[in-house]
Amino acid sequence: MVRTFSAAGLLAMFVLASAPASAEGDATAGELKNAQCKGCHGIEGFRMAYPKVVSVPMLGGQSAAYLAAALKAYRAGDRNNATMRAIAASLSDEDINDLAAYYSASGGE
Ligand code: HEC
Repeated sequence: MVRTFSAAGLLAMFVLASAPASAEGDATAGELKNAQCKGCHGIEGFRMAYPKVVSVPMLGGQSAAYLAAALKAYRAGDRNNATMRAIAASLSDEDINDLAAYYSASGGE
C-alpha cells in the first residue's frame, strides 16, 4: 500500500515537473486509454504503409502541452492526417489531457 502510494506520488511529481500548468491530465488514466494508440505509437521506427508511407512519430517524452495541442488540431481538422483525425474525433478533452500527461511522463516510447 505504502509502496503503491509513493510510486503514484513520484509519477505525479514527475508529471507536474515536466508538464507545467497547461495540461491537467491524469497520467494513470491516460495509460488506461492508450490501448488504441500503442499499436502504432508503441513501436520504435514503425511506419504506416497506407495510404502512403508515413513514419509514426514518437510520443513518449514530448511535452504534454504539445501532444494535447496536436490531438486537438487533428480533432478540429486543422492538422490533416486521416488516421489521426479519425482517432482524435473519438477523444474528449479529458481523454486528450490524460493521454498527453501519460505520454509526456513516459520516457522514450
Ligand atoms: C493506425 C496508427 C495510429 C494509431 C492507432 C494512432 N496514431 Fe497517432 N499518429 C499516427 C501517425 C501516422 C501520425 C503522424 C501523422 C502526421 O504526419 O500528422 C500520428 C501522429 C500523432 C500525434 C502528433 C505527434 C507529433 O509529434 O506531432 C499525436 C499527439 C498522436 N498521434 C497521438 C495518438 C494517440 C493519443 C493515439 C491513441 C488515442 C494515437 N495517436 C493512435 C498513427 C497512429
